[in-house]
Amino acid sequence: MEAIINGADDSTATSPDRRSALTYRRFGDPAGVLQIDKRPLQDRGRHMLGVAMVLAPINPSDLIPITGAYPHRIALPAIGGYEGVGQVVDASPDHADWIGRRVLPLRGEGTWQSIVDCDADLAIRVPDYVPDHLAARAYINPLAALCMMDARDVAGRTVLLLGAGSNCADYLGALAREHGAKHVIGIYRSLERAPRLEALGIEPVGLSDARAVTRAAERADITFDALGGPVGTEVLKSMRAATVFVSYGLLSGEPIAFAGSCARHCRFHLRDALAGMSVGAWQGMFGRVWPLLRHVEVPAGQVFAARQWRQALIAFARPGRAKPLLDLQAF
Ligand SMILES: NC(=O)c1ccc[n+]([C@@H]2O[C@H](COP(=O)([O-])OP(=O)(O)OC[C@H]3O[C@@H](n4cnc5c(N)ncnc54)[C@H](OP(=O)(O)O)[C@@H]3O)[C@@H](O)[C@H]2O)c1
Repeated sequence: MEAIINGADDSTATSPDRRSALTYRRFGDPAGVLQIDKRPLQDRGRHMLGVAMVLAPINPSDLIPITGAYPHRIALPAIGGYEGVGQVVDASPDHADWIGRRVLPLRGEGTWQSIVDCDADLAIRVPDYVPDHLAARAYINPLAALCMMDARDVAGRTVLLLGAGSNCADYLGALAREHGAKHVIGIYRSLERAPRLEALGIEPVGLSDARAVTRAAERADITFDALGGPVGTEVLKSMRAATVFVSYGLLSGEPIAFAGSCARHCRFHLRDALAGMSVGAWQGMFGRVWPLLRHVEVPAGQVFAARQWRQALIAFARPGRAKPLLDLQAF
């Protein structure tokens, strides 16, 4: 990342020769370490696009690295955000046809900034029929769910989702049904998630009903766990022999504390699934993402001006909330 030239006040407007970025210089609680910085615009390489950002979500996957969960992988200072949508405003003559297009500028700089520089090979063109609020969320969770489901044969099986009600679990549930799962059960925390789970064909089970959770675990052939902690541990313990438990998140903030399960315990990280993927395969994945977004009918998010990022973080922590999205045009 280029040098930060000054730590700006949250209400400072962006000047035309600068870009604003939600940055962290040390790891810790995102509310305590994030700040808006102004950085100079710089020349881009021939293969790079300048993308004026429009919207980006706040996902658990964005906040966990800021806390310092992967310090060896992140060079500080760093810009937050792994996904979002914007419009190409600058490109070399070789890529002049990109100017004005809506794209996802992915797998490069953090997306919580006003202008993102992005490798043209990795930028994803957004079809006209996909609205910004969906396009902004088209990467992390849809791709994670597609990759996890591609790696498992769920046909005729009972699938258990821990952390149901989350965006990623919605996709997993919908894909499991599409791939012929016999039954899909979702363990949710907030009761207001239950009607939506039922509408997606997922049997809702409350996290607080420990006996029902154990019964669901005993029935499950494949569990996708985003919780970890005591519930993940209990489910892993209760699963039958020759079943599979996939850990892909730690929403509880605690790891699984159990070895020696009958179930096969494996971990999923999207970055591992994408490592070594060719540009063609990467671009091709989005041919499957757009129909998935339509199929699942993703709930509306709650939009905050980028300057209101503190309020967005407060909203993020509220059980049962909608997904917070940052309006990056309003830095
Ligand atoms: N491994 C990977 O490559 C990968 C990729 C994508 C996502 N993920 C993981 O997938 C998970 C879901 O992400 P998302 O973006 O889909 O989430 P999301 O839509 O923002 O939803 C978050 C969900 O987490 C629940 N939650 C938060 N804290 C909880 C707790 N302490 N106990 C139980 N439930 C809790 C919320 O419950 P309420 O219903 O009460 O609000 C909400 O349903 C995250 O753990 C993320 O890291 C991993």
